[in-house]
Amino acid sequence: MDWHALDLYCKDLVKEAGQRIRNSFMTDITVESKAHANDLVTNIDKEIEQFFIARIRKDFPDHRIFGEEGFGDSIEELSGMIWMLDPIDGTMNFIHQKRNFAISLGVYEDGIGKLGYIYDVVHGDLYNAIDGHGAYYNDERLQPLPPTTLDESIIAMNAFWATPNRRVDHEGTIALIQRVRGVRSYGSAALELAYVATRRVDAYISMRLNPWDIAGGLVIAKEVGAIAGNFKGEPANLLEQDTFVAANPAIHEEICSHYLKLK
Ligand code: IPD
Ligand code: CA
Ligand code: CA
Repeated sequence: MDWHALDLYCKDLVKEAGQRIRNSFMTDITVESKAHANDLVTNIDKEIEQFFIARIRKDFPDHRIFGEEGFGDSIEELSGMIWMLDPIDGTMNFIHQKRNFAISLGVYEDGIGKLGYIYDVVHGDLYNAIDGHGAYYNDERLQPLPPTTLDESIIAMNAFWATPNRRVDHEGTIALIQRVRGVRSYGSAALELAYVATRRVDAYISMRLNPWDIAGGLVIAKEVGAIAGNFKGEPANLLEQDTFVAANPAIHEEICSHYLKLK
C-alpha cells in the first residue's frame, strides 16, 4: 500500500465531506434520538457516512468500513484494511451550535492505525497523521509533547463524568479535577484528541467511547508521543465501547491512578 498516496486521497475525501456538511447549514435538518433522549443523530450524520461508504466501496472494494451510523460492515475482528469513521463527532454541538464538531477517520491495517484524520469542519482545520511519518495541523508538522506535570495541566472531559452515575467512578474524577490546573469540556472526543496532540490540553479522558470516536485521533496522538488507551493501561479498544485516556506521557500514569477502583 502506498500510504502517502492514500493519505492524499483521504484528505480530499474528508474535505469534500466537510464541504457537504457546510452546505447542509442552509437546509432543514432532521434530528432523531438513538439509545436515549440526548443521544442524537441527524439526516446529515447519515448522509455523510453514506457518502464516505459509497466512495470507499467504489475505490477500495476489498476494504471494510466501521461507521457509527451502521451503514458499513459489522466488524468483529480487525484483520485486513478497515476504515473507522465518525461522520460527525459532536452531533449535539452540530445541532445546537453549528460548530465544535469534526469528521473523524482512521485507516487501520490488521488493527494497526496507519492514517488518521480529524477535520474541524467549520474552522477548516485538518489534523492528520501517517503512522511513523508524523502528525500535522494544517500540513504543519506537530512537535513531540514536552514534559509537564499534573499541577500545570489542563484536562478535557465531559463534565457529566464528575456527577454520580452508574458505571462511573465520579470520585476518582473529582479527585483528578481538584488536582489539575483546569478542566475543559468541548463536546467532541475527536476534537479533544486533536487538542491533546496540539497541546491545547494535556489530556482527554472519557468513561465511555466507541472505536469510531478515537480511531483517527489515536494515530495522530501516537505520532506526537501521547499515550492512549483505557484506564487499565491497556491499548485502546477498537471493537467495543471502553474507558479512554489520551495524555502527555508525563501525566498518563498519574491520571490512570485516579481510577484504580475500576481495575
Ligand atoms: C460523542 C462526542 C462527545 C462524547 C460522547 C460521544 P457523537 O460523539 O464525542 O463529546 O462525550 O461520548 O458519543 O455522538 O457526537 O458522535
Ligand atoms: Ca462520536
Ligand atoms: Ca457521530
